Amino acid sequence: MSGGEHTETTPYYVTTPIYYVNDNPHIGHVYTTLACDVLARFMRLDGRRVKFLTGTDEHGQKVERSARARGMDPQAFTDSISQNFRKLSNAWDFSNDDFIRTTEDRHVRACKDLWRRLADAGQIYLDKYAGWYAVRDEAFHGEDELTTGADGNKYAPSGAQVDWVEEPSYFFRLSAWQDRLLEFYEANPDFIGPEARRNEVMSFVRGGLRDLSVSRTTFAWGIPVPDDPDHIMYVWLDALTNYLTAVGYPDTNAEEYRAFWPANLHMVGKDILRFHAVYWPAFLLAAGIEPPHRVYAHGWWTVEGQKMSKSLGNVIDPYTPVDTYGLDQTRYFMLREVPFGNDGDFSHRAMVNRINNDLANDFGNLAQRSLSMIYKNCGGAIPGPDAYTEADRAMLDSVDGLLARIRPEIERQAFNRALEAIWDVVAQANRYVDEMAPWALRKTDTVRMGTVLYVLAEVVRQLAIITQPFMTKGPAALLDQIQQPQDARDFAALATRLEPDRAIRKPQGVFPRYVESEGL
Ligand code: MSP
Repeated sequence: MSGGEHTETTPYYVTTPIYYVNDNPHIGHVYTTLACDVLARFMRLDGRRVKFLTGTDEHGQKVERSARARGMDPQAFTDSISQNFRKLSNAWDFSNDDFIRTTEDRHVRACKDLWRRLADAGQIYLDKYAGWYAVRDEAFHGEDELTTGADGNKYAPSGAQVDWVEEPSYFFRLSAWQDRLLEFYEANPDFIGPEARRNEVMSFVRGGLRDLSVSRTTFAWGIPVPDDPDHIMYVWLDALTNYLTAVGYPDTNAEEYRAFWPANLHMVGKDILRFHAVYWPAFLLAAGIEPPHRVYAHGWWTVEGQKMSKSLGNVIDPYTPVDTYGLDQTRYFMLREVPFGNDGDFSHRAMVNRINNDLANDFGNLAQRSLSMIYKNCGGAIPGPDAYTEADRAMLDSVDGLLARIRPEIERQAFNRALEAIWDVVAQANRYVDEMAPWALRKTDTVRMGTVLYVLAEVVRQLAIITQPFMTKGPAALLDQIQQPQDARDFAALATRLEPDRAIRKPQGVFPRYVESEGL
């Protein structure tokens, strides 16, 4: 097993952002959770104890307004929309271990405790906020960040409209943390990924930090400030705390807390990096709590080259691609098509290319032709290998070395690179079949044919095991076909060889071609 400072049993805690329940989920939300699901599945197969958290962000002015706009009470509204996020796990095979809602008692308790800790440490003071606020982003903005639109309204860099707000407010002494944050980033070079984002965050902090307003008084949908219930907590302070709540905070002696905090990774979209990489570690350091090990900001999806937006009517709901292309296919596409961290475009053409080339032609065909030849020519059972040639050994060495090659890519969230490395082996295996031509050996040298087909079956077995985190159906179906025992499908099973004579089932293609339907 490859190095690194942890052992395989080291706990691994990965989180998604918690999603605003102002609207139904779309493909952008699913992307963040998908990335975390792949990490969680990978780490579990690698023998680690995993906690994978997702959930919903239910307080604040934005959610309250959406509820009112539908004539609903905010609690009834959030109860309903939250279910739509929870249900995604079934359709997308997300393996989250917990689903947190910020309206739960456990979370209210955690937020109040964190607030008290900050207040006791002298990090919070009462004053008055007079400035701009973007309800869509739930963010405060300085005048210097804004632009004036043709309609005379002011807009934040994200495009969200801002309103002037003047109200009593508690403030967090963020300005006092500037130097310590910079020291923290220096001392923890892996804290922010990708690298380019780390530089952006550091220059933002170097530019100076203002104290942060952390309470609001002009609406009521949120968690009341301890001992001053006219104020409710700023929704980002409330929301970020979910990562602690889910591991049992404020019970810091709890086994779960001790095992899983600090979190290994908060996965976020690039739009919310500042909250996670500046405010969150500052809150935690100020409260005497260790910050997470890493925050990774992924890019955004456009659709056929355009920004996804309600007004353009091009928002992709999370069920459409699964129904149209299949779950494995969509999961594979989203992680393979775009270097993780960059923006990506969800296009039908690109999707069909990935399905028909990488999945159907390359991996699917490799498995189907290898297993069919075994089924037909070896009495339906895995043949025993004779002496290996240099070509056989080269093939086996590549697949044996694959896990060690992709582990570091997964550790730094380079999903596309991990998949490229896997598909290098797929391509090598297809060349190997063509060169060895086992169909010709059937007439000339059945012993040699048996060895080649054994090597291929072993390659297919290992590829199926290793692709399980990315795709939840096809790889399992391949392992079923070769009757790989259920308790030998984790990465430890890569270290032992497929035993000869094992009966296999009649092979069936697991990655069909996508055929355009008539009229499209
Ligand atoms: N509630 C906050 C997060 C609080 S975490 C303590 C929030 N919610 S959100 O629902 O607006 O967004 C959640 C995630 O979805 C973000 O990581 C965001 O980047 C991601 N995406 C939303 N639209 C997206 C795309 N079009 N493409 C990719 N990801 C996108 O922010």
